[in-house]
Amino acid sequence: MKKRAFVAITGASGVIYGACLLKALEEAGIETYACATADALANANAETGGKYRDIKSYLYDMGVKNTILYSEDDHGAPPASGSFKTDYYIAAPASMGFVGRVASGVSSNLPERCADVALKERRPLAVLFRETPLSAIHLENLLRLSRAGTLIMPAAPAFYGKPESIGDLVNFTVGKVLDVLGIDNGLYKRWGG
Ligand SMILES: Cc1cc2nc3c(=O)[nH]c(=O)nc-3n(C[C@H](O)[C@H](O)[C@H](O)COP(=O)(O)O)c2cc1C
Repeated sequence: MKKRAFVAITGASGVIYGACLLKALEEAGIETYACATADALANANAETGGKYRDIKSYLYDMGVKNTILYSEDDHGAPPASGSFKTDYYIAAPASMGFVGRVASGVSSNLPERCADVALKERRPLAVLFRETPLSAIHLENLLRLSRAGTLIMPAAPAFYGKPESIGDLVNFTVGKVLDVLGIDNGLYKRWGG
């Protein structure tokens, strides 16, 4: 059976992380499911200068072709249940609002519910958050998630690979997310070759 991944795209800056991640997961032969919040769509437009009416058309333009998309209020979507076997859960980018709500056990929409499912089922959950600076509340929420088993990943690219484009920076960060989940990828130049 193919592996399955659920990707939550929330309203932090860097919607491109979610798109790039979904494309890489599709290329890795993983069955992909995703949900974007309303603020993720707003950011997709803000960050591209686009006028996308839905996240599907943005993702399609970014090369995401085979992902099953759900609306954020679809609490009955299969990934919302622990009985639907999902191998990886990733929030990319993750807003600090998302982090805070998941850390408090609040499941007000599908992305938050899926993160909650990952934690209760003890399945891999990676949270690629983006905010700066961080308040003490952000840090406490991140620590809480980490203690519950979440892989906490700042959207913070390294420069030793001599990035030449935004794509290089994004690929480095997305490659690291795939690395921590144990998914083979050649998205970035590794130290030592
Ligand atoms: C242009 C723009 C950029 C934003 N960037 C961030 C960000 O980098 N990190 C963050 O935590 N929130 C950011 N926000 C705020 C979130 O979108 C906002 O808190 C939202 O309610 C998050 O909700 P969601 O998690 O349901 O998407 C941004 C908002 C806008 C309009």
